[in-house]
Amino acid sequence: MQKELMQKFYEIFGNEGDIRSYFAPGRVNLIGEHTDYNGGHVFPCALTIGTFGIARKREDNKIRFYSANFSKLGVIETSLDDLVPSEKAGWTNYPKGVMWTFEKRGYKLTSGVDFLIWGNIPNGSGLSSSASLEVLTGVMLRDMFGFDEITMQDLALIGQYSENNFNGMNCGIMDQFASAMGKKDCAIFLDTSNLKFEYAPVKLPDAKIVITNSKVKHSLVGSAYNDRRNECETALKDLQKVTDIQTLGDLTEEEFEAHKDAIQDPVCRVRAKHAVYENQRTIKAVKALKENNIEEFGRLMNASHISLRDDYEVSCEEIDILVNLAWQIPGVLGSRITGGGFGGCTVSIVKNDAVDTFIDTIGKQYKEKVGHEAEFYVVEIGDGAGKLA
Ligand code: GLA
Repeated sequence: MQKELMQKFYEIFGNEGDIRSYFAPGRVNLIGEHTDYNGGHVFPCALTIGTFGIARKREDNKIRFYSANFSKLGVIETSLDDLVPSEKAGWTNYPKGVMWTFEKRGYKLTSGVDFLIWGNIPNGSGLSSSASLEVLTGVMLRDMFGFDEITMQDLALIGQYSENNFNGMNCGIMDQFASAMGKKDCAIFLDTSNLKFEYAPVKLPDAKIVITNSKVKHSLVGSAYNDRRNECETALKDLQKVTDIQTLGDLTEEEFEAHKDAIQDPVCRVRAKHAVYENQRTIKAVKALKENNIEEFGRLMNASHISLRDDYEVSCEEIDILVNLAWQIPGVLGSRITGGGFGGCTVSIVKNDAVDTFIDTIGKQYKEKVGHEAEFYVVEIGDGAGKLA
């Protein structure tokens, strides 16, 4: 792929100068959903699909973008003096936001760049195509401009900052962290209250991770995502009147039950319940995985889905159909919605010998019930972002 993209770069921008290639993966979250902005734990892993980038510094301060996914748009030109978000800038708002954040943090970009990208994460599928583009841009700028002191973790934070403040989506740290810090065959057990993390090997000799795309597009910007966040903040403020906590992640289930009546609004109460229980489920799930108890891991995934469906209300009809179908298939250890929600994908752990049945049965029945096809990806866990040789 890299070769073809390099050819494309030559075609669009010419072949002279120091041209470099980069990759940043998408992610799937195994468990720990909507906990990352509540000081809880998450358990995502990087995928082997993601976004590729080819770049070269320019002599002037122009920035020229080209996406091989949106070739009809042609070259989109802007400049370092125009790092402001706009609707018309479309996908380039993501790399522009990262450039803006670099400058804001004192990492002066001394020239513009030509930047070609191509990604193989289905758009709007909840597998973090935007976070991968942000981390990709960060890796590219760090390398091109020699900011060696910036760590991969900083790049995740820069990506999140740009998404929050340039693109108006109040996301947590999970997606950018997974894209930047991923490790082959491991999931990242991350405590979002202090960014301490541990790589947990995901050894599944008898099973596969299968992602099912409902092909219902979710748009998180301006959606209910930011509302959920506000509801959790309101719940936290109420709880802080009766107990000494910094985040919802500080509470066990028992502590939550003891104090929950302090939360005035019943909707905020169930949102907080999800955040607290989901965090505890994530801790338990990682323990189960370490003990090779995949069955328990799967049960916790199922419980996570029910909580996201009923208490957090971020599922949707199509996703519930996928999960219900999955739960009926022998050999499915666990299945749940993954990512921000309101469409997107499910993640399932499926015994090797049930994978074909899983894809056939769900494929057919989903089409019958919903009217359009689902897509299936049997995925591998890959490494985090970096420069390509
Ligand atoms: C989106 C956000 C993440 C996280 C998930 C839900 O993917 O970008 O920060 O909040 O939703 O777990």
